[in-house]
Amino acid sequence: MGLDGGVKILVIGSGGREHALVWKLAQSPLVKQLWCAPGNAGTADEPLRGSGDTARNLKIAAEDLPALLDWAGKNRPDLTVVGPDNPLGMGIVDLFQKHGLPIWGPNQQAAQFEASKGFSQEFMERHGIPTARSGIFTDARAAKDFVASLHGRCAVKADGLALGKGVLVCQEVAEANRAVDSMLQARAFGAAGDKVVIQEFLEGTEVSLHALCDGRTALLFPTAQDHKRAFDQDQGPNTGGMGTYSPAPFLDAAQMAEIQARIIEPWRRGCLAEGIHYQGIIYPGIMLTPAGPKVLEFNARFGDPETQCYLPRLENDLAELLLASVSGTLDRVQLRWSPTSCVCVVMASGGYPGGYAKGKTITGLPEVAKRVNVKVFHAGTAREDDKIVTNGGRVLGVTAWAADLASARQLAYEAVELITFDGAYYRRDIGSKAL
Ligand code: AMP
Ligand code: GLY
Repeated sequence: MGLDGGVKILVIGSGGREHALVWKLAQSPLVKQLWCAPGNAGTADEPLRGSGDTARNLKIAAEDLPALLDWAGKNRPDLTVVGPDNPLGMGIVDLFQKHGLPIWGPNQQAAQFEASKGFSQEFMERHGIPTARSGIFTDARAAKDFVASLHGRCAVKADGLALGKGVLVCQEVAEANRAVDSMLQARAFGAAGDKVVIQEFLEGTEVSLHALCDGRTALLFPTAQDHKRAFDQDQGPNTGGMGTYSPAPFLDAAQMAEIQARIIEPWRRGCLAEGIHYQGIIYPGIMLTPAGPKVLEFNARFGDPETQCYLPRLENDLAELLLASVSGTLDRVQLRWSPTSCVCVVMASGGYPGGYAKGKTITGLPEVAKRVNVKVFHAGTAREDDKIVTNGGRVLGVTAWAADLASARQLAYEAVELITFDGAYYRRDIGSKAL
């Protein structure tokens, strides 16, 4: 890689996570050129510290593997960074590697940790990783017998990728049986639901963990907490995530060490033993139960919106970290985190996670840009002439950091108050569980 002359990086994806990745990569003196495919109105404007240029968007969808490969073959980025789960599940990493193009993210075999919940569940059981009691079924009758044994209190999960919608948390037998039928009989999630994982219902506080991996080493991040429900007090439908903060105060250093020893280490050794080369982020969703932390699921990528709170706190050069992940040299790296708290409040389009309008003009962004320790990460936005308009369900991740959580929240919500668009809604209680 031409490290001396700087590096050229392509980021794949278009959400708040990808804007945060672009923003952080743009701060690296190593990065001379930066593209985002397809990106959003935020990724297009980030100034590059390493060259005076700005990041640029490419009109290529994140799932258009042939077009991405074609572009990368011609423009030879030194690294391609994959944001979302879909291209990973489709095997973009294997495809790029076959063509000699350096790429960061798990290959298709490793990405099964997210692309197949059954694969993850069996892996956890083989390697003694604490998780919910569970069963894996293709037969509805057997699934319902298991539901009955759990008295209906369970999570019914489509095995495959289902746009974050394939998990139905149930409290009663009839409800859980309907969930089983919707997947195995009515095929509400298509082939993704032809196999289901049923887990016992776990009670507790949920936290997100991330670890950066290079195939041998796994470096654990601090904690973050997502807010998946649409409305305050965890009411309303599940969303992709309405806000996040980091660190989450529910785990002390000793408990984090226990998680490293009981979850991350057995996972890492299990991958090595089974010949799974895991290069990228592993993101376990954890329930802190009275019987200790248990893994609900694995994701094979950065969390969205967790990334928007991690990267402002990360003191390392992200380009260096991702290059070390690809070259297998993370054993020489120490992650450094600022001792700040960070809060990200998602502003969403009215109606999300159901149907919503697009093309609403967003105002107030220039005022917020003048504030220190505040950054608005764009998610569903687009540029229309000289305006920035809404272009998705989650529109903006208004993010702020400060010495403590209360101050970071105040900064974030002050910024939110300055921004308007038709139908905008957001949760007012991001981070409040930690206060
Ligand atoms: P997942 O995509 O597997 O993380 O599931 C989505 C959400 O469903 C999680 O964030 C939890 O809030 C909830 N959930 C998943 N599995 C369980 C479980 N076994 N017990 C209780 N809640 C769960
Ligand atoms: N924060 C939820 C997710 O990234 O899946």
